[in-house]
Amino acid sequence: MKKIITIIALTLSIVAQAQIKDWENPAILGINKLPYHATLQLPSKWKECQEIMSLDGQWLFHWSRNPEERPADFYRDNYDVSSWDRITVPGNWQLQGFGTPIYTNISYPFQRNRPSVTSEPPKDWTAYENRNPVGSYVTFVDVTKEMLNKNLILHFGGVHSAMYVWINGQKVGYSQNSMSPAEFDVTRYVHEGRNKLAVEVYRWSDGSYLEDQDMWRLSGIFREVQLWVRPLVHIADYHVTAVPNDDFSQTNVTADITLCNTGKHKAKDLKVVLKLDGKTIEGQMKSLAIGDTSHLQLTYLINYPKLWSAEKPNLYPFSVELIDKKGKMVEHFDYHLGVKRVECVGEVFKINGKNVKLRGVNRHDHHPRTGRYVDDATYEQDLRLMKQANINFLRTSHYPDREYLYELCDRWGIYVMDEANQETHGYGYANHEMGEDTAWEGAHVDRAESLVKRDFNHPCVILWSLGNEGGVGPNIQAMYDTVCRLDSTRLPFYDCHPRYSALHDFGYPTPDVLKAEAEKETEKPLIAREYAHAMGNSMGNFQEYWDVIYADSSIAGAAVWDWVDQGILRSKMEEGRGMIEYFAYGGDFGDKPNDGPFCINGLIAPDRKPHPHYYEVQHVYQPLQFVREPDGKIRIVNHDYFTTLDEYDITYDTLRYESEVLLNVAARLKEDKPWAKKGFVIASEQFVLMPYVFPEVVTPSTMNSSNNITIKGNALTSWIIDGHEMLQAPLEPYFWKPENDNQHAAQFAQRTAIWRNATDVTVNYTIIDKRTILVDIDYHPSGTDKPVMPKFGMRMRLPADYTNIEYYGRGPWENYPDRKRSAFIGRYKMPLSEFETEYIHPQDNGCRTDVRWFELSTHNSQLSTLRISGLQPLCIRAWDYGEEDLEAAKHPHEIQRGRFVNLNIDLNVHGVGGVDTWGQRTLPQYTIDGNKPYHYAFILRY
Ligand code: GAL
Ligand code: MG
Repeated sequence: MKKIITIIALTLSIVAQAQIKDWENPAILGINKLPYHATLQLPSKWKECQEIMSLDGQWLFHWSRNPEERPADFYRDNYDVSSWDRITVPGNWQLQGFGTPIYTNISYPFQRNRPSVTSEPPKDWTAYENRNPVGSYVTFVDVTKEMLNKNLILHFGGVHSAMYVWINGQKVGYSQNSMSPAEFDVTRYVHEGRNKLAVEVYRWSDGSYLEDQDMWRLSGIFREVQLWVRPLVHIADYHVTAVPNDDFSQTNVTADITLCNTGKHKAKDLKVVLKLDGKTIEGQMKSLAIGDTSHLQLTYLINYPKLWSAEKPNLYPFSVELIDKKGKMVEHFDYHLGVKRVECVGEVFKINGKNVKLRGVNRHDHHPRTGRYVDDATYEQDLRLMKQANINFLRTSHYPDREYLYELCDRWGIYVMDEANQETHGYGYANHEMGEDTAWEGAHVDRAESLVKRDFNHPCVILWSLGNEGGVGPNIQAMYDTVCRLDSTRLPFYDCHPRYSALHDFGYPTPDVLKAEAEKETEKPLIAREYAHAMGNSMGNFQEYWDVIYADSSIAGAAVWDWVDQGILRSKMEEGRGMIEYFAYGGDFGDKPNDGPFCINGLIAPDRKPHPHYYEVQHVYQPLQFVREPDGKIRIVNHDYFTTLDEYDITYDTLRYESEVLLNVAARLKEDKPWAKKGFVIASEQFVLMPYVFPEVVTPSTMNSSNNITIKGNALTSWIIDGHEMLQAPLEPYFWKPENDNQHAAQFAQRTAIWRNATDVTVNYTIIDKRTILVDIDYHPSGTDKPVMPKFGMRMRLPADYTNIEYYGRGPWENYPDRKRSAFIGRYKMPLSEFETEYIHPQDNGCRTDVRWFELSTHNSQLSTLRISGLQPLCIRAWDYGEEDLEAAKHPHEIQRGRFVNLNIDLNVHGVGGVDTWGQRTLPQYTIDGNKPYHYAFILRY
């Protein structure tokens, strides 16, 4: 009996085991995968590298909504795929017409029930019908006779989320860990001629539990595929370190080189050559047995090394060569190294011995057309815009990007926090489930190891991040240990617990909290790995952060959330308008669950057009600060450490507008950089030398009236000039403004709802002549319990053709009371379409502050120009739609436009806010207390 039970138990366990799928089994991270290693060849040289054969291009493709319906035999030689669709590799299948993109922030897009990704979710979820879509890919690879004498390695740069690989019907292997390369030795599966390469990709796998980043959930072979044609004996890996000594007078370069023998003969008398700094350093390996891997170390001393930093990205190009016993060079790779030291000295973070400040940004790898595949040109564009904005620190949130990005950071100078592809936010921030479940330890470690091993040789990396919003516990400890074991020359970082981090993280503080936290923390430097949530119309109080950061040497810096709006370009037919294009966000594809526009948080739009707040970052991040001393002299404070002032041309312009005299100072590049031309303005400031003299109140001795002007109570209801009615809607007190994204969760609309109707206000109209009216408005609160006012001022609507704007105030870009440092006072001219800011998620926009006067005119020269002159500075917003149109629209193309020009003429507007988008309010100094009296005046003249 006992025997029978054992047999049954045994059979059951075999059956059970057979049923566990690799992609729902956290113990299986890969099958037949080659070890991770450093990028062997500089990415910019991949195209010319003889060992690399690109397999990118059009592949055959079949999409199934779940594993059961997939063409399970498609990998076989005799399976006919000729009628299949085509797909571009690299790419995401959802952006090529297959399946549904899903945008979620915290919640997993599938039913959470680890390690299963196919448990039944709620019926209205995308994953209910499409339980786990499978993409089956086929391409054919030509192999020549010569190639058969080589070692052939199939390389995938990134595949989301798990894949099986077959060649000519034979199973090669399996991989997950989607943002790191997967490599397989395919030598024994290929034959001369045409070979069938079949790849089966699963949208979700147990690996997806570690990939719960706040982003579009996209799938497929989304990074390059290469076939490496390598000598049988070759360089498997090399790691180079170059940390200078204490006084930076010397650095020992150490190259750890790994050779392996994949051939059928023992290799003898191998030579490895490192060419560096004009020198040749050689090492010998007497013999390398069949199937063996062996290490060799080369060292070289550089005296007085040129140090690498983001300011001075000095690189030492080098090459590694393998020479066989006949003296023939069989392999050659090019790379570069940078000499630098990163350390925490007490609570001070230092690079090359200096308390460098990290002026940072977070970036997702996102492209509006190709999703998670971002091409080289876009990388260059991103980094150019970052360098131009004085950003010196990039966090690759929340996973490793493509290799070329790191090469650019090395060359152009950007410090990088390289982040492991580990986020389990769906279990909660700092959760114990994923941090402690030992079944998931290997999966965690795999992500740390793949990160460090691939990017080891990039000088730009200063911090290895263990992930974002993941667990805490032994699994994270194991990641930490791995990172520290693999690399002692950079620092480990983690956001969920300081135990695993060299720096103490504090996300999304207010400026005051940042200051207080830094004072409280006395052991480690403080960093805000994320702050200043740049969603929609935002980034207020940005200078306030940097006043705090520069004042405290224990704050290492902070990184804005985030770089680019994750909008997906979509086009659709609109009646009467033809094809229109717009940027889609969560829910636009019918995806469920979704987090709506919460992925639109960038400093730049998906098409890389800077938002107005990009320029505020550029200004606040500028390394030079100009201070006007009481004696009128301008003092320049240099926040950089490795750049001196003589590297800039300091220029100044004195501008005279009417009575006002302004001084604009600028520091310009003296020479071309890869990311900007000579003359590019790195830092600038404006000073008022002689203030503007605002017009005096003119009260005519007799009260004029004019039969072309009608006033009813507080409202100017009609004004006829040259036979035309100039008011499409009355000029009247109006204290409401629509919310922006930052204000929504802070319940702005509810809190301030009473201001949809202005009260306790009196307007005096003084008719100076039939073309000139003085408007004077007075607010006296009747109670003491009024909420803050969205704005204090008036509104009117003009005929729709008043779309030419010229004004004298801050610009040219949009600015608000809490975000106006970068917008200098000047005279600006633009069409209304440029005056407005078109946010992907429509919201309040377009304000210009410190306006002295403002003019609107039409293209018809017969019609008069309207000029508004403040008796004090004004805030003005103008749109070709109304507040109600804006509040009703979910995308710009849905806004009803063109019926009138809506004009708000205000004394003050509530600031945009700049802390987060989940509850923090605009700082009090940028709000309008509803319990105080206000008064202002302006003159209208047609
Ligand atoms: C952070 C998170 C980011 C993003 C951001 C909100 O806490 O790390 O991934 O979700 O919030 O936009
Ligand atoms: Mg998250």
